[in-house]
Amino acid sequence: MDQHDDIAIAEFTMDDYPVVHVLWQRGDLWMRPSDGPEATILKLTRDPGLFLVARTGDGRVVGTVMGGWDGRRAYVYHLAVAPERRRQGIADALMDELEERFRGLGAVKAKLQILVENETSKAFFAQRGYLLETDCEPWGKELVAGGAPPTR
Ligand SMILES: CC(C)(COP(=O)(O)OP(=O)(O)OC[C@H]1O[C@@H](n2cnc3c(N)ncnc32)[C@H](O)[C@@H]1OP(=O)(O)O)[C@@H](O)C(=O)NCCC(=O)NCCS
Repeated sequence: MDQHDDIAIAEFTMDDYPVVHVLWQRGDLWMRPSDGPEATILKLTRDPGLFLVARTGDGRVVGTVMGGWDGRRAYVYHLAVAPERRRQGIADALMDELEERFRGLGAVKAKLQILVENETSKAFFAQRGYLLETDCEPWGKELVAGGAPPTR
């Protein structure tokens, strides 16, 4: 029996938001204005079916990932698993389902950003076949106040 056999992958609903927000924080993910409840509703409306959670048999959310599809590229955001449930294949199960849904939408490539010091995330995505791409540098502009790195 795999260690995550008690886990089912399901679609996120806003009822999950408080628990998922705590999971993001416990995972030390960089919280931005786009992680508030209103922005999360907007995201859910934009990409229904790409925001996934991993639930235990009793309904507890122990993992999450958010996908984005803009019609050209697929993006992976905020993959996180509860610290006490890591190394049990839960993130792989979430990513298997998300990548399958990306393919179903017609996506041919998935992309993501990993913070420079996040060696765990690099090891996780490397074993899934993701590669560091050095031909382009990520550029961006804050369109609203409060999104800049010092608040991390
Ligand atoms: C990254 C993260 C989501 C992985 O979740 P997980 O459920 O523990 O991952 P899995 O059990 O599915 O791991 C699958 C494989 O990835 C690799 N891996 C996962 N965690 C690893 C670690 N800490 N060190 C080295 N390799 C690791 C291993 O090859 C692992 O297989 P194995 O356990 O048989 O060796 C989890 O550590 C986490 O929530 N981290 C904090 C949030 C974060 O950094 N998210 C990514 C943002 S870009």
